[in-house]
Amino acid sequence: MTSDELKIIAKYIYDISGIYLDQSKAYLVETRLKHLMKETGSVSYYELHQKAKADPTRTLERKIIDAICTQETMFFRDNSPFELLRARILPELIERKTSQPSFFPTSIRIWSAACSTGQEIYSIAIVLREFLSDLSKFNIRLLGTDISDFAISCALSGEYSQVTVERGLPKDKLDKYFKQIGQKWKIRDDIRSMCIFRKHNLMNSFNGLGRFDIVFCRNVAIYFRQTDKAMLFNKLADILEPGGYLIIGSSESVSGINSRFEPIIHLNMIFYQLKLET
Ligand SMILES: C[S@@+](CC[C@H](N)C(=O)[O-])C[C@H]1O[C@@H](n2cnc3c(N)ncnc32)[C@H](O)[C@@H]1O
Repeated sequence: MTSDELKIIAKYIYDISGIYLDQSKAYLVETRLKHLMKETGSVSYYELHQKAKADPTRTLERKIIDAICTQETMFFRDNSPFELLRARILPELIERKTSQPSFFPTSIRIWSAACSTGQEIYSIAIVLREFLSDLSKFNIRLLGTDISDFAISCALSGEYSQVTVERGLPKDKLDKYFKQIGQKWKIRDDIRSMCIFRKHNLMNSFNGLGRFDIVFCRNVAIYFRQTDKAMLFNKLADILEPGGYLIIGSSESVSGINSRFEPIIHLNMIFYQLKLET
């Protein structure tokens, strides 16, 4: 891939996904798009780019997104965000909601923004299932979104390989919340039905997604430029309820990017709470 080809492809990827690839990413781009060069019979990356832009069905665009996105995830990834949810955020949120006169049942709305293949939102559903003794007292809305069609279709299926369930999922939870079907493990229907999935690009408007008490937006902003991160966190602040919670990846930070959030330390991790006056 020449540096001019990389510039054109990187600009195209940025325009369709917000993912920023600098000149050091030539090898990564080449490796991830190689199969599409072959599949489309393109002899150069210029040609691949031309074909993607000319495709009215946008199938090639979707395939490029699937190929470029890093979908690394796992059940209970990093563990502490889920412990934080169970031990601090849910008790605090429920206490706050039930102390105000409101319509019954109490609503809990959580968004896994960039949910990849679904492990994050299903881990959240399992935490809720275990924490709330009587689910019928709550109106729960768990939304998982991702830009990748491939990721969303895996999440929707709720089926995972042996290797995938062995990463992060304790044995007792595997036995309790999954059933084995041939070589695959399928998430139990009651957990599956707690979650809804949609394709969504975080660079686009959040209109129509509803409002949330808690947003998990982990390990995705790392792929964006500083200005796009700032825009993203601002839109997340707009969509969260006052006092709502934002949980980001362990290597990420909102400090210095958005002052509408208050950083809070709980045990060994930082989470962010939307300031009440914003
Ligand atoms: C590394 S995974 C993180 C998954 C999960 N949040 C976690 O922490 O385990 C990053 C995900 O972000 C998605 N992604 C990348 N750019 C996106 C965008 N502009 N809008 C929505 N999702 C995006 C990718 O498809 C991928 O599934």
